[in-house]
Amino acid sequence: MKYLLTLALTITLCQLSYSKSIKNPVDTVSNGKTILDEDGKPVNAHGAGVLYYKGVYYLFGEIKKGKTWLVPDQHWEDYRVPAGGVSCYSSTDLIHWKNRGVALKPTTNNPAYDVDTSRVIERPKVIYNERTKKFVMWMHIDKNDYKYSRGGVAISDKPYGPYHYLGSVKPNNQMLRDMNLFKDDNGKAYLIYSSEDNKTMQICLLSSDYLKPTRHYSRILIDKKRESPAIFKHAGKYYLITSGCSGWSPNAASYAVADHIMGPWKEHGNPCKGPNADSSFYSQGGFVVPVANKPNSFIFMGDVWNKTNLEESKYLWLPIRIIKDEIEIYN
Ligand code: GAL
Repeated sequence: MKYLLTLALTITLCQLSYSKSIKNPVDTVSNGKTILDEDGKPVNAHGAGVLYYKGVYYLFGEIKKGKTWLVPDQHWEDYRVPAGGVSCYSSTDLIHWKNRGVALKPTTNNPAYDVDTSRVIERPKVIYNERTKKFVMWMHIDKNDYKYSRGGVAISDKPYGPYHYLGSVKPNNQMLRDMNLFKDDNGKAYLIYSSEDNKTMQICLLSSDYLKPTRHYSRILIDKKRESPAIFKHAGKYYLITSGCSGWSPNAASYAVADHIMGPWKEHGNPCKGPNADSSFYSQGGFVVPVANKPNSFIFMGDVWNKTNLEESKYLWLPIRIIKDEIEIYN
């Protein structure tokens, strides 16, 4: 049944595809490819996340613009690009994307400020707060040595922005690097992030306005050195797909399943199957988008990083197959 629904999603995406000559939507949209927006320009939304609101998908991501540079004196070869702020694109079918402009603008020549182009702004995610009627964006804010390791928060009245930056925090005085944001069915929202120098992940409940971490958090995947968390919920269970820690270079994903978001999380192996599964098909996952009105359909969204030219990084989006409590991703 689940397989059939995944197939149905694939077929639907196929039918929605704007390029009539290409049959496979995964090839069309994102198979390690550049995604073009409706103006024919490459979508610049890396480390992306999706908000679904009133029939529209809003894609938010890192704007990587400008010359990629090699960071001197690192443990390993590491590259940076100016932080271009956060982009927003909208779509009703996950295929045609309209550029909605810069949702969160960076400052320039203001290196003391969190969202300056000279800093690091990564993995922005947005959720909607029904009570306050605000759209809330969380993102990883850092300096170029990644030692600042904080969560930044911004707010808007409209899904596409502009977002007003409120500041950054270390939840419970803990480091926050690669992160995600999850809003549960009961309206509670959580930050999920690599912490403790990327050794352990943490999940922290947010305040009811989603603007602050609470003191309620748990440590998960302890000492497993995982990052890039992508979380979703299906049939009452939580699924968390993570990558290993190898900078911009791809590695094998793994996933964990839990009955309660705070854990315990039961670890499984790599959800990616088939050729190049050990490099997650040369990608790094970062988000899972539930397909609206198709309860069993989820899309794994990954970045195919081009570390020496980060702006040129591409995307890999693939359907997730759910078989009982296990998941599989094929390219
Ligand atoms: C990766 C991480 C990216 C970025 C990069 C910097 O491991 O997933 O979001 O922080 O390191 O090298």
